[in-house]
Amino acid sequence: MPEEAYWATFFDPETALDRLIPSDARGGHAVEFGCGYGTFTLAAARSITGRVTALNIEPEMVATVRQKAQAEQLKNIDAVIRDFVSDGTGLPDASQQHAMIFNPLHLEDPVGLLREAWRVLEENGRLSVIHWRSDIPTPRGPSLDIRPSPNQCRSWMEQAGFRLVKPVALDACCPYHFGLVAQR
Ligand SMILES: C[S@@+](CC[C@H](N)C(=O)[O-])C[C@H]1O[C@@H](n2cnc3c(N)ncnc32)[C@H](O)[C@@H]1O
Repeated sequence: MPEEAYWATFFDPETALDRLIPSDARGGHAVEFGCGYGTFTLAAARSITGRVTALNIEPEMVATVRQKAQAEQLKNIDAVIRDFVSDGTGLPDASQQHAMIFNPLHLEDPVGLLREAWRVLEENGRLSVIHWRSDIPTPRGPSLDIRPSPNQCRSWMEQAGFRLVKPVALDACCPYHFGLVAQR
Protein backbone atom coordinates (compact mmCIF):
# COMPACT_ATOMS: atom_id res chain seq x y z
CA MET A 1 0.00 0.00 0.00
CA PRO A 2 1.14 3.60 -0.49
CA GLU A 3 2.30 5.65 2.46
CA GLU A 4 -0.44 6.16 5.06
CA ALA A 5 -0.99 9.93 4.79
CA TYR A 6 -1.24 9.68 0.99
CA TRP A 7 -3.69 6.72 1.22
CA ALA A 8 -5.88 8.75 3.62
CA THR A 9 -6.34 11.51 1.02
CA PHE A 10 -8.43 9.17 -1.15
CA PHE A 11 -11.23 8.69 1.37
CA ASP A 12 -13.63 10.42 3.71
CA PRO A 13 -14.39 7.24 5.67
CA GLU A 14 -17.05 8.70 7.96
CA THR A 15 -19.18 9.90 5.05
CA ALA A 16 -18.60 6.66 3.14
CA LEU A 17 -19.74 4.56 6.10
CA ASP A 18 -22.77 6.81 6.62
CA ARG A 19 -23.82 5.85 3.11
CA LEU A 20 -22.88 2.19 3.34
CA ILE A 21 -24.19 1.19 6.78
CA PRO A 22 -27.89 1.80 7.37
CA SER A 23 -28.89 3.01 10.82
CA ASP A 24 -30.54 -0.35 11.59
CA ALA A 25 -27.23 -2.18 11.02
CA ARG A 26 -25.25 -0.27 13.64
CA GLY A 27 -26.14 -2.35 16.66
CA GLY A 28 -24.27 -5.55 15.84
CA HIS A 29 -20.73 -6.61 15.07
CA ALA A 30 -18.74 -5.90 11.91
CA VAL A 31 -15.86 -7.68 10.20
CA GLU A 32 -13.37 -5.97 7.92
CA PHE A 33 -11.40 -7.99 5.36
CA GLY A 34 -7.98 -6.33 5.04
CA CYS A 35 -8.04 -3.35 7.39
CA GLY A 36 -4.76 -1.84 6.16
CA TYR A 37 -3.95 1.29 8.17
CA GLY A 38 -7.38 1.25 9.78
CA THR A 39 -8.66 4.01 7.48
CA PHE A 40 -12.19 2.62 7.78
CA THR A 41 -11.77 0.53 10.94
CA LEU A 42 -11.73 3.41 13.37
CA ALA A 43 -14.65 5.20 11.71
CA ALA A 44 -16.63 1.93 11.79
CA ALA A 45 -15.83 1.37 15.47
CA ARG A 46 -17.08 4.87 16.27
CA SER A 47 -20.31 4.38 14.36
CA ILE A 48 -21.46 0.94 15.56
CA THR A 49 -22.12 -0.30 19.07
CA GLY A 50 -20.81 -3.83 18.45
CA ARG A 51 -17.23 -4.98 17.92
CA VAL A 52 -15.19 -4.51 14.75
CA THR A 53 -12.99 -7.48 13.86
CA ALA A 54 -10.25 -6.05 11.64
CA LEU A 55 -8.28 -8.74 9.79
CA ASN A 56 -4.96 -8.27 8.07
CA ILE A 57 -2.14 -10.55 6.99
CA GLU A 58 0.56 -7.97 7.76
CA PRO A 59 1.53 -7.72 11.44
CA GLU A 60 2.64 -4.07 11.03
CA MET A 61 -0.82 -3.06 9.80
CA VAL A 62 -2.48 -4.84 12.70
CA ALA A 63 -0.07 -3.14 15.14
CA THR A 64 -0.90 0.25 13.59
CA VAL A 65 -4.63 -0.33 14.02
CA ARG A 66 -4.17 -1.45 17.62
CA GLN A 67 -2.12 1.66 18.39
CA LYS A 68 -4.73 3.94 16.83
CA ALA A 69 -7.54 2.22 18.74
CA GLN A 70 -5.62 2.62 21.99
CA ALA A 71 -4.82 6.28 21.28
CA GLU A 72 -8.54 6.96 20.73
CA GLN A 73 -9.55 4.69 23.61
CA LEU A 74 -11.77 2.73 21.25
CA LYS A 75 -12.37 -0.55 23.05
CA ASN A 76 -14.50 -2.28 20.41
CA ILE A 77 -11.78 -3.14 17.87
CA ASP A 78 -10.25 -6.62 17.62
CA ALA A 79 -7.34 -6.25 15.19
CA VAL A 80 -6.18 -9.74 14.21
CA ILE A 81 -3.24 -11.01 12.14
CA ARG A 82 -4.88 -13.44 9.75
CA ASP A 83 -4.75 -14.60 6.16
CA PHE A 84 -8.44 -14.53 5.27
CA VAL A 85 -7.79 -16.07 1.84
CA SER A 86 -6.31 -19.30 3.17
CA ASP A 87 -7.79 -19.37 6.69
CA GLY A 88 -11.09 -17.47 6.48
CA THR A 89 -12.12 -15.13 9.25
CA GLY A 90 -12.29 -17.60 12.14
CA LEU A 91 -15.62 -16.04 13.13
CA PRO A 92 -18.73 -18.12 13.89
CA ASP A 93 -21.54 -18.50 11.35
CA ALA A 94 -24.14 -15.70 11.33
CA SER A 95 -22.29 -13.69 13.98
CA GLN A 96 -21.87 -10.34 12.20
CA GLN A 97 -24.29 -7.64 11.12
CA HIS A 98 -21.94 -5.96 8.68
CA ALA A 99 -19.01 -7.10 6.51
CA MET A 100 -16.64 -4.63 4.87
CA ILE A 101 -14.56 -5.55 1.84
CA PHE A 102 -12.81 -2.33 0.95
CA ASN A 103 -10.24 -2.66 -1.85
CA PRO A 104 -9.11 -6.31 -1.72
CA LEU A 105 -11.52 -7.83 -4.28
CA HIS A 106 -8.78 -8.03 -6.94
CA LEU A 107 -7.10 -10.72 -4.81
CA GLU A 108 -7.28 -14.40 -5.71
CA ASP A 109 -10.61 -16.18 -5.32
CA PRO A 110 -12.95 -13.20 -4.80
CA VAL A 111 -16.01 -15.46 -4.73
CA GLY A 112 -14.45 -17.56 -1.95
CA LEU A 113 -13.82 -14.40 0.03
CA LEU A 114 -17.40 -13.23 -0.53
CA ARG A 115 -18.73 -16.66 0.50
CA GLU A 116 -16.82 -16.29 3.77
CA ALA A 117 -18.46 -12.88 4.28
CA TRP A 118 -21.86 -14.49 3.57
CA ARG A 119 -21.17 -17.28 6.08
CA VAL A 120 -20.37 -14.95 8.98
CA LEU A 121 -23.23 -12.51 8.31
CA GLU A 122 -26.51 -12.94 10.08
CA GLU A 123 -29.64 -13.24 7.96
CA ASN A 124 -30.34 -9.83 6.37
CA GLY A 125 -26.82 -8.74 7.38
CA ARG A 126 -25.20 -6.14 5.17
CA LEU A 127 -22.14 -6.46 2.94
CA SER A 128 -20.34 -3.31 1.78
CA VAL A 129 -17.83 -3.36 -1.05
CA ILE A 130 -15.62 -0.50 -2.19
CA HIS A 131 -13.12 -0.70 -5.01
CA TRP A 132 -11.06 1.48 -7.29
CA ARG A 133 -12.88 2.78 -10.36
CA SER A 134 -11.57 1.82 -13.79
CA ASP A 135 -13.76 4.24 -15.79
CA ILE A 136 -11.68 7.30 -14.83
CA PRO A 137 -7.94 7.84 -14.28
CA THR A 138 -6.97 7.17 -10.66
CA PRO A 139 -3.75 8.14 -8.91
CA ARG A 140 -3.31 4.66 -7.40
CA GLY A 141 -5.00 1.27 -7.42
CA PRO A 142 -4.24 -2.18 -8.81
CA SER A 143 -3.41 -2.50 -12.48
CA LEU A 144 -6.42 -2.19 -14.75
CA ASP A 145 -6.20 -5.78 -15.97
CA ILE A 146 -7.01 -7.11 -12.48
CA ARG A 147 -9.26 -4.26 -11.29
CA PRO A 148 -12.86 -5.52 -11.11
CA SER A 149 -15.71 -3.39 -12.48
CA PRO A 150 -18.92 -2.83 -10.48
CA ASN A 151 -20.67 -5.36 -12.74
CA GLN A 152 -17.97 -7.95 -12.11
CA CYS A 153 -18.24 -7.41 -8.35
CA ARG A 154 -22.03 -7.65 -8.52
CA SER A 155 -21.77 -10.95 -10.37
CA TRP A 156 -19.29 -12.33 -7.79
CA MET A 157 -21.53 -11.15 -4.93
CA GLU A 158 -24.55 -12.90 -6.45
CA GLN A 159 -22.51 -16.08 -7.04
CA ALA A 160 -21.60 -16.02 -3.35
CA GLY A 161 -25.31 -15.92 -2.42
CA PHE A 162 -25.89 -12.21 -1.79
CA ARG A 163 -29.13 -10.56 -2.91
CA LEU A 164 -30.35 -7.02 -3.46
CA VAL A 165 -26.97 -5.82 -4.72
CA LYS A 166 -27.17 -2.04 -5.13
CA PRO A 167 -24.73 0.69 -6.09
CA VAL A 168 -23.95 3.44 -3.58
CA ALA A 169 -22.70 6.79 -4.90
CA LEU A 170 -19.39 7.68 -3.27
CA ASP A 171 -18.35 10.55 -5.57
CA ALA A 172 -18.49 13.14 -2.80
CA CYS A 173 -16.41 11.15 -0.30
CA CYS A 174 -14.26 8.67 -2.29
CA PRO A 175 -14.04 10.10 -5.81
CA TYR A 176 -11.83 7.29 -7.17
CA HIS A 177 -14.02 4.48 -5.83
CA PHE A 178 -17.35 2.84 -6.48
CA GLY A 179 -19.49 1.31 -3.76
CA LEU A 180 -21.90 -1.62 -3.69
CA VAL A 181 -24.04 -2.96 -0.88
CA ALA A 182 -25.87 -6.26 -0.64
CA GLN A 183 -27.89 -8.32 1.77
CA ARG A 184 -27.20 -11.82 3.11
C1 LIG B 1 -5.55 -2.28 -0.61
S1 LIG B 1 -5.40 -2.53 1.10
C2 LIG B 1 -6.94 -1.88 1.67
C3 LIG B 1 -6.96 -1.57 3.14
C4 LIG B 1 -8.28 -1.02 3.68
N1 LIG B 1 -9.38 -1.94 3.44
C5 LIG B 1 -8.57 0.32 3.07
O1 LIG B 1 -9.34 0.35 2.09
O2 LIG B 1 -8.04 1.33 3.55
C6 LIG B 1 -5.63 -4.29 1.26
C7 LIG B 1 -5.17 -4.82 2.60
O3 LIG B 1 -5.48 -6.22 2.62
C8 LIG B 1 -4.38 -6.90 3.20
N2 LIG B 1 -4.39 -8.27 2.68
C9 LIG B 1 -4.05 -8.69 1.43
N3 LIG B 1 -4.20 -10.02 1.32
C10 LIG B 1 -4.65 -10.45 2.52
C11 LIG B 1 -4.99 -11.74 3.05
N4 LIG B 1 -4.89 -12.84 2.30
N5 LIG B 1 -5.40 -11.82 4.33
C12 LIG B 1 -5.48 -10.71 5.10
N6 LIG B 1 -5.17 -9.46 4.67
C13 LIG B 1 -4.77 -9.34 3.39
C14 LIG B 1 -3.15 -6.11 2.78
O4 LIG B 1 -2.10 -6.33 3.69
C15 LIG B 1 -3.67 -4.67 2.83
O5 LIG B 1 -3.44 -4.08 4.07
